[in-house]
Amino acid sequence: MQLQQHIFFIGFMGSGKSYHARRIAQMRGDEELFLDLDLLIAEEAGMSIPDIFAQLGERAFRALEQEALIKVIEQPPRIIACGGGCPCWYDNMQRIKAAGLSIFLHPPVSVLHQRLLPEKAQRPLLAQVREVDFENFIEKLLQERLFYYLQADLIWRGALNTK
Ligand code: S3P
Repeated sequence: MQLQQHIFFIGFMGSGKSYHARRIAQMRGDEELFLDLDLLIAEEAGMSIPDIFAQLGERAFRALEQEALIKVIEQPPRIIACGGGCPCWYDNMQRIKAAGLSIFLHPPVSVLHQRLLPEKAQRPLLAQVREVDFENFIEKLLQERLFYYLQADLIWRGALNTK
């Protein structure tokens, strides 16, 4: 059955957005409903997300990210995992709110830290952060982003399983 509106999963890197968006699509019996915005950006650019950051810079990535968001919003409703920074740039959060239901996954910083540390090198925003500064960095960036994340329709506090 078709969705009535888009469902957006938002939240920090490592919060489980893609995992849960995909799971809900599977539970509805149609995995095609799931869309990972980062995958779409990489596909359209013909480059990986780390390569976009490294070769074009974060501003260029954010412009591609907004382009992808606008494109997806215009299409039939999907269950969308947004990149962690997506709602926090330009008027993206307003667009998300106008286009459907938004769900903010909000696990504790200690959980984010534990999940992200092993993947640090592959994540453009985290790769350069020293291990001793890592938890503080996550805490600070999350605090800055809460203004946007907390505008979501639903907020899930706590660590959901991602296994
Ligand atoms: C980013 C999160 C990443 C990806 C990019 C920037 C961010 O997506 O969009 O590396 O600014 O938090 P995930 O949250 O899906 O890891």
